[in-house]
Amino acid sequence: MTRSTDYLSGFGNQFATEARLGALPIGRNSPQKAAFGLYAEQLSGTAFTAPRAENLRSWFYRLRPSAGHGPFELARPHPTLRSGPFVETPPSPNRLRWDPLPVPETPTDFVEGLVTMAGNGDVSMGTGSAVHLYVANRSMGGVFYNADGEMLIVPQSGAVRFVTEFGRIEAEPGFIVVIPRGVKIRVELIDGPIRGYICENYGAALRLPELGPIGANGLANSRDFETPVAAYEDVDQPTVCVQKFEGALWSTVLDHSPFDVVAWHGNLAPYRYDLSRFCPVGAISFDHPDPSIYTVLTSPSEVAGTANMDFVIFPPRWLVAEDTFRPPWFHRNVMSEYMGLIYGSYDAKEGGFVPGGSSLHNRMQAHGPDRTAYGMAIAAELEPRRLAGSIAFMFESRWTYRPTLCAMASPQLQDDYDACWQGFEKGAPPR
Ligand SMILES: [Fe+2]
Repeated sequence: MTRSTDYLSGFGNQFATEARLGALPIGRNSPQKAAFGLYAEQLSGTAFTAPRAENLRSWFYRLRPSAGHGPFELARPHPTLRSGPFVETPPSPNRLRWDPLPVPETPTDFVEGLVTMAGNGDVSMGTGSAVHLYVANRSMGGVFYNADGEMLIVPQSGAVRFVTEFGRIEAEPGFIVVIPRGVKIRVELIDGPIRGYICENYGAALRLPELGPIGANGLANSRDFETPVAAYEDVDQPTVCVQKFEGALWSTVLDHSPFDVVAWHGNLAPYRYDLSRFCPVGAISFDHPDPSIYTVLTSPSEVAGTANMDFVIFPPRWLVAEDTFRPPWFHRNVMSEYMGLIYGSYDAKEGGFVPGGSSLHNRMQAHGPDRTAYGMAIAAELEPRRLAGSIAFMFESRWTYRPTLCAMASPQLQDDYDACWQGFEKGAPPR
């Protein structure tokens, strides 16, 4: 992995980084003439007038302005990439579960290998999100940017490198990477095929959740988020540039590499986070708190405490609660839950939910431990126990996830998921 010194620490800081000494102007953002003949260019992640605490923007100092390109042309429709509004299938109340996607047999890069499973909201209205899977067996030759949303990427298999306008980020399973809306990337394989999950967030940018009575520390700590230092390519050769705009892919050819940012400063930037640095908080007496205590990042909606989408993990931790049903309990949730598994096995499902697989429990649909996990949990001697060797996660949203046609017709869709809640014996209170 890349040395940590190649990254700047902190979430949403006002970073400043230069790959050539003297490239970054001091005291002004857009001097009359930038150093070395570079071009000053702002990338805005929020409206200019967003409140100061919400405002996201960075300034680039680059070899050429981004504006130097010809028209984009509508590309061939992507066979498995979809965007909101999601209207291909009737929204399903059924509990759904999928096996992992196989690695493709034909050459496939990150963009070619995107498969949209579900989503909600509307890309043009800036609400909701889409859940994609990615599988790839070759690095991208061109570059890609997403004008529709920021991308929260969860590698599940294979190490991946994101060459970005801001610098380079590497991530292996156990890390997440967030690419802000509009940032150009080239996705490269490091040691073989890659597979993972993406939440494409159309709504407000992801941020750290408030901690309330937990206090100033815990959960995901700001200092553990890592943003790349400036690094650039000086390459004058044709480069295919594909963008996702209002759900469709558009393509043009640049006459140079757009990764030509020599210096940048600001608080809008890609970042990575090592999930093993998450500091879980949990019950130390009895009962099983709501899983919101494991929220890593949240995209708020206009209703307080009711997220456009949350990213929640189930990390290794100690279980110590007495007289408590320790696995996730039975429940029905006003929020909708799309789950994935990075590695290991999940404590509410003893089988069927495997690394790289997915499950979907939409609004108000009953779910919880399977029969095997339930039986073990009520019979267990409740000694302190370390739950280790797995990380499951959840994209949770106030909007229902509408599966795509591709997800519903997928050979990976399991046809017997309901069976894991069969066979529960009836309770027997005395008459
Ligand atoms: Fe749930």
